[in-house]
Amino acid sequence: MEKIGILTGGGDCPGLNAVIRAVVRRSHALGYDVLGIKKGWAGLIHGHVEPLTDFSVSGILPRGGTILGTSRTNPFKQLDHIHKLKSNWQKFGLNYLVAVGGEDTLGVANKLFKQEGYPVVGVPKTIDNDLAGTDYTFGFDTAVQIVTEAIDRLHTTAESHKRVMVVEVMGRHAGWIATHSGMAGGADCILVPERRFNIDEVCGLIRKRIDRGKEFAIVVVAEGAMPDETHQVMSKQGHVDDFGHAQLGGIGDWLGAQIESRTAIETRVTVLGHVQRGGTPSAYDRVLATRFGLKAVELIRQKEFGHMASLRGTDIVAVPIEDALSQKLLDPKVFDDAAVFFG
Ligand code: F6P
Repeated sequence: MEKIGILTGGGDCPGLNAVIRAVVRRSHALGYDVLGIKKGWAGLIHGHVEPLTDFSVSGILPRGGTILGTSRTNPFKQLDHIHKLKSNWQKFGLNYLVAVGGEDTLGVANKLFKQEGYPVVGVPKTIDNDLAGTDYTFGFDTAVQIVTEAIDRLHTTAESHKRVMVVEVMGRHAGWIATHSGMAGGADCILVPERRFNIDEVCGLIRKRIDRGKEFAIVVVAEGAMPDETHQVMSKQGHVDDFGHAQLGGIGDWLGAQIESRTAIETRVTVLGHVQRGGTPSAYDRVLATRFGLKAVELIRQKEFGHMASLRGTDIVAVPIEDALSQKLLDPKVFDDAAVFFG
């Protein structure tokens, strides 16, 4: 029997278990064995695996996170890690691999295929929705829903206290989560990495709203947003992962302090953080993730290695993994639509 390995790498995201379940169920129906690789590429380097059966994936569809665990491990960072990965591939009798991940995990998958000739296929995931090569990634819909619910809740307390509420959301260098949730939650101002913002203009929007008789405001700020006088995104000093990414955060507090001192309106800051990534996936994400998982097995069957599942319109299609390796920034038209409701 041929054996398919599957791993989930990078930040977790709602829908990963739906992919794992779909890959396992479809593979078994077609006569493949499936080996789960734990904690992303780290599991293949260090030999941490578990056979996946229909029984072991039963009941995981609504669960957040990933039953396989995940990590931000780059096996190409150390030569001996690539050697270990290759020898474990052989030791475990793998024939094919499904790599489920974002830009970093898929970058490794692409390198393994292109440079080393390994039969790898990909499934794109990220709550940030910033991968080129697919219209949407699963996890995004759930994250937007979570943020929207938070904005709804912040609205009632903001209105009661006549405060400005700043909500800092994830998304790394893309403003998809901020814009979609801000639009859905009726934010009075949305700040995204794709457009530098001017703090006077932000305060101007808040004042305009107050002048209209609305004595509170909701400002959604993406963690990667930057005021126009700075050149560097705010991040936690010192922490850089295997792929060179800093841990972003801090813009919400900065913004809250600026708004309060410039407008004299009491301001509070909520940093939603990893709440956005946790918990049960939305129905949309479960369906998208399931269809991606099925497509990954199809890609293996058709020997379309170096490709990944992708959403184009309403169709699931195959695209080269390298198409996902460039960043898909926010569609300016969507931001402009959201901006109609500012102030
Ligand atoms: O890429 C997903 C994401 O949640 C980003 O939005 C965020 O910047 C980052 O991961 C946080 O990473 P970590 O879980 O390592 O703190």
